[in-house]
Amino acid sequence: MLNIAVLVSGSGSNLQAIIDEKLKGNLNNVNISCVVSNKTGVFALERAENQGIDNKVFLKKEYEDQSAWEDALISYLKDKNVDLVVLAGFLTILSEKFVESFTNSIINIHPSLIPAFCGDGFYGLNVHKAAIEKGVKISGATVHYVDAGVDTGKIIMQKAVDVLDNDTPETLQKRVLEEAEWVILPLAIKKIADDRNK
Ligand code: GRF
Repeated sequence: MLNIAVLVSGSGSNLQAIIDEKLKGNLNNVNISCVVSNKTGVFALERAENQGIDNKVFLKKEYEDQSAWEDALISYLKDKNVDLVVLAGFLTILSEKFVESFTNSIINIHPSLIPAFCGDGFYGLNVHKAAIEKGVKISGATVHYVDAGVDTGKIIMQKAVDVLDNDTPETLQKRVLEEAEWVILPLAIKKIADDRNK
């Protein structure tokens, strides 16, 4: 069984995609141990609560600094015996210390085809705005391992979607979420769980 923690900051639709695949019986060797948010009141927490999944908010302002906040998070995740940390719309850059605490065991979903439109400043609607401004005809999503850089870790899975002539950042964001992110995030988790069972 692969114990995963899903780290969120917002609506949690990617978390929901993982939950839905689990409910469909497609992630039987995966256990969602906990959901962690760095913000209070986000809908992702309600999604976790609705499924009876342990969830906790870690607010940076309640700790002395980023390092103390990460220490608390690391010890919470270790206590839960988490094997894989899934960053699903988690809007915080994690330090090398955090990354080294979960070697090759942190993955992230990014809403573009890396190496396009990634790195510092490319998050949320910015990614889709940049894709439209560049005039690319194809965008998509990438699941990758997290290393000490921003969006630089090894790529696990990608899925392309068309960019349409009349797309706005919002319509492209919706298509990338629905057709790519929600598909490949659960699939990448399944692949990791299956590979570790071999
Ligand atoms: C997604 O677009 C994800 O790729 C990005 O943040 C967004 C999170 O959406 N990193 P949600 O909270 O899963 O709905």
